[in-house]
Amino acid sequence: MMMRILAIETTCDETGIALVEASGSETPVFRIRANLVASQINIHAPYGGVVPALARREHEKNLPALLARLAATDARALAAADCVAVTVGPGLEPCLWTGIEFAKTLAKKLGKPLVGANHLEGHLWSFLLAPSARAKLRALFPAVALIVSGGHTALALLPDMAHRKKLGETRDDAAGETFDKVARLLDLPYPGGPEIERLAAHGNPNAIPFPRPMIGDKTLDFSFAGLKTSVLYHLRNSPQSAIRGAQNVAETSASKTRKTNIWREEPRGKPSETERADVAASFQEAVIETLLIKTLRAAEQAGAKSILLSGGVAANETLKSRFRKAARERGLAFLAPPKAFNTDNAAMIAVAAYMKILAGTGRYRVAAAPNLNL
Ligand code: KG4
Ligand code: ZN
Repeated sequence: MMMRILAIETTCDETGIALVEASGSETPVFRIRANLVASQINIHAPYGGVVPALARREHEKNLPALLARLAATDARALAAADCVAVTVGPGLEPCLWTGIEFAKTLAKKLGKPLVGANHLEGHLWSFLLAPSARAKLRALFPAVALIVSGGHTALALLPDMAHRKKLGETRDDAAGETFDKVARLLDLPYPGGPEIERLAAHGNPNAIPFPRPMIGDKTLDFSFAGLKTSVLYHLRNSPQSAIRGAQNVAETSASKTRKTNIWREEPRGKPSETERADVAASFQEAVIETLLIKTLRAAEQAGAKSILLSGGVAANETLKSRFRKAARERGLAFLAPPKAFNTDNAAMIAVAAYMKILAGTGRYRVAAAPNLNL
């Protein structure tokens, strides 16, 4: 039976509304009728990170506008929605509430049930939005999933489609957060991930031996704060230091808001473009290798048949191709969503809601859960 899901996503700095048709149980199939995303990057970029109060204001403005756009193009499908799904967490609390209140009103107006969804399950299952996933689905499990976003870095084992066990997570900064912070050290704008990827393309990934944090550790946890500090020290100690003035840097991410002191030294001149590109490429290499080592170890320990890669950081082409190659060499299947579904969107929230319904493992309470986990 086909289920038409109207999904709302307002976790962080992207407002998303999607209308997705879902069907099938052993092989779930998703057809996207609409997937609208209003990005707030320009609003937050001057602050170097997401400002929750501004984000909420933008969500309040964007939600009715996106819904009107959807109604204008697909009014019939909208009226025929079977349920409204909304992200309840994890994320920035004021942003989550904005989406939830909007979804509640909408569900009431349509006279349809409201379903809570987990943002991390959205990332986790986003690979199902790739049409090629369908054919591989039966041979995927057990699978190891790596979610790498601005707020999270987590490894999970999926023995089958309905069950899951968390294997590890970051003990401090998330991978995307680290990309964003290192980008700031290099004077690159927010969000830093795509900027670092661009700069890294001109650099030597083996130029600077940045640490691969915790790879010798027995757990499957990660830690990226030390790597960021290594980049800071490298820049500070380089003959042409790029680091300027001591300042407080307000840092926000999908899961937390906090203030950190990053010591910035007086400039000793601008680093050359080659030096900056080498730092970007070597940093990116350190992150990729660290993520890859632990993911492969998890896959080996679990006897996994596949690796599922998702989240904003997985939009990184170098990261993705390294994972694909490593999986192929080990005879593992590799699945990742189409690039547009790596960063936050509502289509993946519709998928998460459907998979939760299929699993039959209870419902999420429809109230903001900023620290909800996998
Ligand atoms: O999944 P996402 O949109 O939001 C969260 O749930 O956090 O991820 C956003 C994060 C940001 O930190 C951004 O810098 C990072 O994903 N990102 C990338 C790339 N594109 C986005 N990191 C590395 N390389 C990229 N190409
Ligand atoms: Zn996300």
